[in-house]
Amino acid sequence: MSDAKGKIDRDSIGNVLFVAIGVSLVCSVLVASAAVILKPRQLLNEEEFRQRIILDVAGLYEPGANIAELYSSIEETSTELASGEAGAVYLVMDDSRIEQVILPVEGAGLWATMYGFLAVEADGNTVRGLQFYAHGETPGLGDQVDKPAWREQWRGKKLFDANGETQIEVIKGFAPDDSEYEIDGLAGATLTARGVSVFVRHWISDEGYGPYLKSLGDKESQ
Ligand SMILES: Cc1cc2nc3c(=O)[nH]c(=O)nc-3n(C[C@H](O)[C@H](O)[C@H](O)COP(=O)(O)O)c2cc1C
Repeated sequence: MSDAKGKIDRDSIGNVLFVAIGVSLVCSVLVASAAVILKPRQLLNEEEFRQRIILDVAGLYEPGANIAELYSSIEETSTELASGEAGAVYLVMDDSRIEQVILPVEGAGLWATMYGFLAVEADGNTVRGLQFYAHGETPGLGDQVDKPAWREQWRGKKLFDANGETQIEVIKGFAPDDSEYEIDGLAGATLTARGVSVFVRHWISDEGYGPYLKSLGDKESQ
């Protein structure tokens, strides 16, 4: 690193390595510290995003309003699914009465797993809304699931008929105007639409939240 006169040879291999390792160490400490310092903020943002989506699917989200305050009307609980796992349930309460239930739904789209929430009224049968918060579908094709006009169609649809059979379905083409159970398909994105139909039906089946939804309906009709 230094020659006979004690001067540092800045171009020596030792010196280059020393500077490179030093710079890498400083940078890695900076990046690691930023990640650690920002982690709580990141978790808070993720939590706020989750709460906003749940409020939105329930029709309770107001832009600009305090999310935590709005979310205080929602109770988080769970129900046991057929697999033995706990299935998350978000209850929108009106005093001590359940006003609607919000269920997480997820399943295969064309390109990736789609994640969303299904809001159902206290009868356990009437849909309040369906909203995705993460998917990998193509912009302009599969991502039509996010279009307000398509999402609006879910509102008021029934999941089950009077015999308790699952009837809700996304069909290919247009659903008749007075259809109680059918939702329009997505033009050019039949595979995404079919995926959504299949996994929503799965989550309301006996394997998913079906028994819970039916118990709500029974309570409501008592
Ligand atoms: C680049 C590319 C991206 C596509 N993305 C989607 C998609 O996100 N969802 C989907 O269902 N189909 C997508 N498709 C079309 C499917 O391959 C298929 O043709 C379509 O789902 C059939 O729908 P249709 O019967 O309404 O035409 C994509 C096709 C291409 C070439």
